[in-house]
Amino acid sequence: MTVHFIGAGPGAPDLLTLRGRDLIAACPVCLYAGSLVPEAVLAHCPEGARIVNTAPMDLDAIMAEISAAHAAGQDVARLHSGDLSVWSAMGEQLRRLRALGIPFTVTPGVPAFAAAAATLGSELTLPGVAQSVVLTRTPGRASAMPEGETLAAFAATKATLAIHLSIHRLARVAEELAPFYGPDCPVAVVWRASWPDQRIIRGTLADIADLVGAMERTALILVGPALAAEGFSESRLYAADYDRRFRAGRTDAVKS
Ligand SMILES: C[S@@+](CC[C@H](N)C(=O)[O-])C[C@H]1O[C@@H](n2cnc3c(N)ncnc32)[C@H](O)[C@@H]1O
Repeated sequence: MTVHFIGAGPGAPDLLTLRGRDLIAACPVCLYAGSLVPEAVLAHCPEGARIVNTAPMDLDAIMAEISAAHAAGQDVARLHSGDLSVWSAMGEQLRRLRALGIPFTVTPGVPAFAAAAATLGSELTLPGVAQSVVLTRTPGRASAMPEGETLAAFAATKATLAIHLSIHRLARVAEELAPFYGPDCPVAVVWRASWPDQRIIRGTLADIADLVGAMERTALILVGPALAAEGFSESRLYAADYDRRFRAGRTDAVKS
């Protein structure tokens, strides 16, 4: 028996990996994390599968479901939205599984920041403008931020910021970032990226809070000059005079 952690993607059901789909279809038990996992993904579960929404459950109750499946020799598909490497609470579940000696696998998913960038038609790293993306959040009811992980500290780098779980404090976020990026710095808020009702609101640090107004989760705040840069240089990778050592067709290409 194995617990398969599967990144269910940002919302669009076809943004699920083939591996994730096949694992869901093969597991008689599916535990999924709330409303961010679309119904159409759950439709891959086999007929008669036990399908449980874990949103209202605590960790002990989730582990009890897994232990029951383990005792019955039934594989479990454990779905979390987006990818599992960020804000999925997978870490604490893996720690318990390791302690219990229950095997697991991890299948990645499309994270929200990538879906939001795709929705915007944007590359978040542009030559000479930004070469780093910071995935971060602001403190929440259940999660304090470790010392040093402040918006100001990240903003000092002028990297592109992808700020999660923070739409309810957008005005405060914009106010904190403006001294570092300048009030004219572009901002995009992407609400429910890849869902049929997705919305994009573009603005600057000076006006984004007014443009967005009151917005319910689930939205991502993207901040940085890369979001509206036009005059950036082209990447050297495709420059005519660049040494493409491994490119097919190059007569003296290195073969090993
Ligand atoms: C608990 S985190 C989950 C992140 C997820 N594991 C990932 O890989 O993106 C939830 C936050 O991710 C962002 N988010 C998740 N799905 C989103 C979507 N479809 N569109 C915009 N933001 C999304 C929002 O900021 C939301 O508050």
